[in-house]
Amino acid sequence: YFGSYVMQRPAMGHISGVPLDQNTWASIWSFQAHPEDIVVAAYPKAGTTWMQEIVDMVCEDGDVEKCRRAPTYDRHPFLEVVAPKPVPSGLQLAEQMEPPRILKTHLPIQLLPPSLWERNCKVIYVARNAKDCMVSYFHFQRMNKGLPDPGTWDEYFLTFLSGEVPWGNWFDHVIGWWEIKDKYQVLYIFYEDMIEDPKLEIRKVMSFLGKDLSDDVVEKIHQHTSFQAMKENPMANYSTIPSFVMDHSISPFMRKGIVGDWKNYFSTAQSDLFDEEYERKMKGTDLVFRSQL
Ligand code: A3P
Repeated sequence: YFGSYVMQRPAMGHISGVPLDQNTWASIWSFQAHPEDIVVAAYPKAGTTWMQEIVDMVCEDGDVEKCRRAPTYDRHPFLEVVAPKPVPSGLQLAEQMEPPRILKTHLPIQLLPPSLWERNCKVIYVARNAKDCMVSYFHFQRMNKGLPDPGTWDEYFLTFLSGEVPWGNWFDHVIGWWEIKDKYQVLYIFYEDMIEDPKLEIRKVMSFLGKDLSDDVVEKIHQHTSFQAMKENPMANYSTIPSFVMDHSISPFMRKGIVGDWKNYFSTAQSDLFDEEYERKMKGTDLVFRSQL
């Protein structure tokens, strides 16, 4: 049925200067949260799916079968998603679910629906160094026809730096979330730390969610959420999305899962230009990223 279907890539509108879909914005902004809802927030490609799987396993006390109940996008409503079928609208899915719900969002801080703050929901924010995010996002925009075409790597490098990518500027995103983290219930986690010591970060998530699980369960969560296990898990690797939307033959969703792949893409000139911009934008924050381990 879908065999000859070719998807039209979308043109992005802007919400408060951030490239996002305009048609659905009003209903997203008025989203109603429950106090027990848990939010997994991240800039795109920072490790959102990985954290979703960890949070799901923690909430299900390490029950692998329960975490295989449905694909990621059906288990955890993606608040602002505008995707073609079979991916349901995040709001529709959320409305059908009983709290506590695990919600996913890529929204920058100033665009998070206010109800989530009013209900004081717990948020786990994942941040990943910009260079690896950029490379990952480039490949993702190539394979995901629901997003604008990224063009060549050299073109994309400039587009990304200018912030004209879906969900906007990386710097504004990571700094915005960093600055409010102590004002609300926000656990700020780094992708690089998750790679370096996954069990330590899993334990941080557990304690933030008020869960006390045994070492055996932590080990089970660790195994189930490893890159290899998630790459092979159809309920976590997005292979259930039709290929006219996500074409894994162009680039798989579970692509490399490492720190430092940017070195295979950035020219010396691009790396220098990026580092200058980084110095300028990050001045005045105590937020530190590692782009190699
Ligand atoms: P790469 O493209 O660099 O491989 P998101 O879920 O936010 O879209 O992020 C996707 C990125 O996280 C991809 O990065 C993907 O491979 C990586 N990823 C997903 N699950 C992972 C895991 N269990 N361990 C390490 N990286 C993972």
